[in-house]
Amino acid sequence: MRGMMVICPSLLAANYAHFRREVERVSRSGAEWLHLDVMDGHFVPNISFGPDLVKTLRPYTRLFFDVHLMCTNPGPLIERFVQAGADQLTVPVELGHEKVLQLIWQIRTSNIKVGISVNPPTPVTLVEPYLEQVDNVLVMTVNPGFGGQEFIRETLPKIQKVRLWRDQRNLKFRIQVDGGINFETVKECAQAGADTFVSGTTLFKTRNMRAGVRKMREAALAAVAANKP
Ligand code: DX5
Ligand code: ZN
Repeated sequence: MRGMMVICPSLLAANYAHFRREVERVSRSGAEWLHLDVMDGHFVPNISFGPDLVKTLRPYTRLFFDVHLMCTNPGPLIERFVQAGADQLTVPVELGHEKVLQLIWQIRTSNIKVGISVNPPTPVTLVEPYLEQVDNVLVMTVNPGFGGQEFIRETLPKIQKVRLWRDQRNLKFRIQVDGGINFETVKECAQAGADTFVSGTTLFKTRNMRAGVRKMREAALAAVAANKP
């Protein structure tokens, strides 16, 4: 993994008639992760794609496949995502303690990385019990379900809290943000302590994604550098 900031273009904003070409575009962009949003029409009011698309796209890139599960009952799908070539599966804390513990265990024992996500209205304290067991904490910066929404600034203190926990306990998980991330909001998130940035609309609408990824990474790094005494 290059550098301290990880940029994750979200396939949700791709041209669906050209998935392979879009993935190859991300591959050449200098981004580290490909973010894949899985929506079940129940946990969120939208439906996207499932393990078969992940499997179809796997041969065309060496990108890290960061699969974001927005599903009420992801358990029965985990094994299929693992077989499809997912590198990380992130599950919502809103599913409740029993399900979350079971899912984290299921994912970890599949030998891929595991993440926990927290929606804007959900208290960030709900993720605290899992911090030592996860590789990624995803602080949602919009209500999940759709791309192209406006960044919710009230989520910034939650990012700060997660960063404080990580620093105090000397843990290694990444702090990811997702939703409404553009060349400005990326700075606020980086200053708050995020190091991993999902961006759909902003990066896919740039004609030159490579330049967009570089610009986003540099904005994040500059914001952190400006913060230091
Ligand atoms: C929202 C998804 C996001 C989405 C972000 O529910 O989890 O990953 O693709 O899209 P933008 O960057 O357009 O807000
Ligand atoms: Zn997402």
